[in-house]
Amino acid sequence: MSKQDLTRPCVRGLRPYVPGKPIEEVQREFGLEDIVKLASNENPLGPSPRAVEAMREAAEGVRLYPDNDCRALRAALSQHLGLPGSQILIGHGSDELIHNLGLAFLDPGDEVMMCEGPFSQYEFTAKLMDARPVYVPLKDFRYDVEEMARRLNERTKLVFIGNPNNPTGTIVTAEELAAFLREVEDRAVVVLDEAYHEYVEASEYPDSLALVREGRNVVVLRTFSKIYALAGLRIGYGATTPALAEALERVREPFNVSTLAQAAATASLGDPEQVARSRRLNRESLDYLYGEFARLGLSYTPSQANFVWVEVGRDCREVFQELLRRGVIVRTGDVFGAPTHLRITTGLPEQNRRLVAALEEVLGGATA
Ligand SMILES: Cc1ncc(COP(=O)(O)O)c(C=O)c1O
Repeated sequence: MSKQDLTRPCVRGLRPYVPGKPIEEVQREFGLEDIVKLASNENPLGPSPRAVEAMREAAEGVRLYPDNDCRALRAALSQHLGLPGSQILIGHGSDELIHNLGLAFLDPGDEVMMCEGPFSQYEFTAKLMDARPVYVPLKDFRYDVEEMARRLNERTKLVFIGNPNNPTGTIVTAEELAAFLREVEDRAVVVLDEAYHEYVEASEYPDSLALVREGRNVVVLRTFSKIYALAGLRIGYGATTPALAEALERVREPFNVSTLAQAAATASLGDPEQVARSRRLNRESLDYLYGEFARLGLSYTPSQANFVWVEVGRDCREVFQELLRRGVIVRTGDVFGAPTHLRITTGLPEQNRRLVAALEEVLGGATA
């Protein structure tokens, strides 16, 4: 006889997160040494040498709990963003900040608006809190803010906008966002997830921090995992109004950001040249990939981030497997509800070439 299931009903419906395939696993499975991982939107240049040095220096101090208030990092972010420290959120990844938004704002039955095929943490957080995710289909792989405005109602508590959106790399423009915020007024908290914001080049991209300064009901989320290349440390940050920051502070875990993460993030902010290098490399990689995709007859969505959403015209799981056999790891579109798409992170020039050669072989029908 089975034991009684004591988990909350909403937890029974959750599935554990499935990450992109780790390099070691592919090495073992296929007996390959040289693996190219273009699956998790990591920065191939790696972190700033200053961040690595700062971690070395901080390592001796890990006997003690970290600074609960992240004072040095908060001061550096305050200067970087032009906002008081009290309006800055710091978490172990922006994932934690998304989780905290759920804890602070969601009651069972509340609605959480997101796009169809959302970044998984939005959906996870809604379901964990027994709230209802409301999926609004993308239009041409872009957020349809007009339809989102139509779907707002008195139960809508949180709205997640990935800007740029993961996995499509598209943005909501300043004009579109302003129109949407006019409809929302102060009835819901609008989360602008800007994990890839440093890569954006489009002039129509919104100045989200100006919205925070104006006191709009928005939470801007950013991360050190992407352009700063500190994904393994788990550290993200955000900016919002004093009132929302105060609510989020109440649900924050004590000592939520490790000593090493605080040190590395602070040092990274002091190395803008590393960010500039990463942007330049990404631009070159995107141009190269666009050219090669066009040559292979593949349609893709122009990206404002460090990944490209490409239509491969075949079952993406099959293409994924064939690429794996050739030592290249990408992300399949099926997890985002797009069964013939791949999301491919930009890499170093040699990695991009490996990807293209493997893709050409796979789509041309050859086997490894
Ligand atoms: C859109 C988006 N938001 C948030 C995150 C999470 O970032 P972090 O590593 O800071 O938790 C990611 C990571 O892939 C992302 O793509």
